[in-house]
Amino acid sequence: MKDEIPLEVHTSLDIQELLDKIGFENGLLIETICSTENPDGSPHSAPIGVKRAGMLLSIDKLFKDTITFENLVRSGYILINLLDDIETFYLATFSDLPREEYDKSYSTRIPPLRRSNAFIEAELVNFRDRDNFVSVELSISGILIRKMKPCFFTRCKHAVLESLIHATRVPVFRRIDPKEAGSLMKLILHYRDLVSRICPEEPYNRIMNGIVNRLRDTQI
Ligand SMILES: Cc1cc2nc3c(=O)[nH]c(=O)nc-3n(C[C@H](O)[C@H](O)[C@H](O)COP(=O)(O)O)c2cc1C
Repeated sequence: MKDEIPLEVHTSLDIQELLDKIGFENGLLIETICSTENPDGSPHSAPIGVKRAGMLLSIDKLFKDTITFENLVRSGYILINLLDDIETFYLATFSDLPREEYDKSYSTRIPPLRRSNAFIEAELVNFRDRDNFVSVELSISGILIRKMKPCFFTRCKHAVLESLIHATRVPVFRRIDPKEAGSLMKLILHYRDLVSRICPEEPYNRIMNGIVNRLRDTQI
């Protein structure tokens, strides 16, 4: 087929065309897992929203109290994993990903995640200070499309992803705005009920229960 993207092609040419073809349209915000280098050279990964701005990428809101921010400013380098594996998002949200979650076979500064469908290597162009967060501009130095697989919608994936994002905010709002924390908890419980009705136990229902239990246990 004419429009098919060849697998395992590393390219620094036609970046805009390639981004268009994989559906990363201009102006679109996608949820990724960003890997950065710790001072000791080990990788650190966290879910982060990345937006396309033509040839460039941006992280419109990167909180300053994150390891990702520290690492990015120090090293100037970031590897953006594109994947729809909810289990990897879950692990990356609440803990450091173990070494076995990274691939060994790529000669990139940071190994990509084992379950990523594609990854983008990028360099820090600049960042703008906006109080407790920064807006970051990145230039793309390489893209690798690794997997092509059938894609389809599932309400569960969306529900769990939304819940993960809310779960990272609940601890903050419990300190500064308990009412907002309560509203976010209500949304998470709503998604938990939805997932328990329409999704099989693995992995969606288990992860949703894990999120709720973590927030209940710690009361952070
Ligand atoms: C789907 C998803 C998207 C997120 N997007 C962002 C983001 O754009 N900016 C940000 O600062 N944190 C974002 N977070 C929260 C961070 O992943 C979380 O705070 C994490 O702990 C980052 O901090 P670290 O670099 O210290 O690990 C997101 C979380 C999830 C689950």
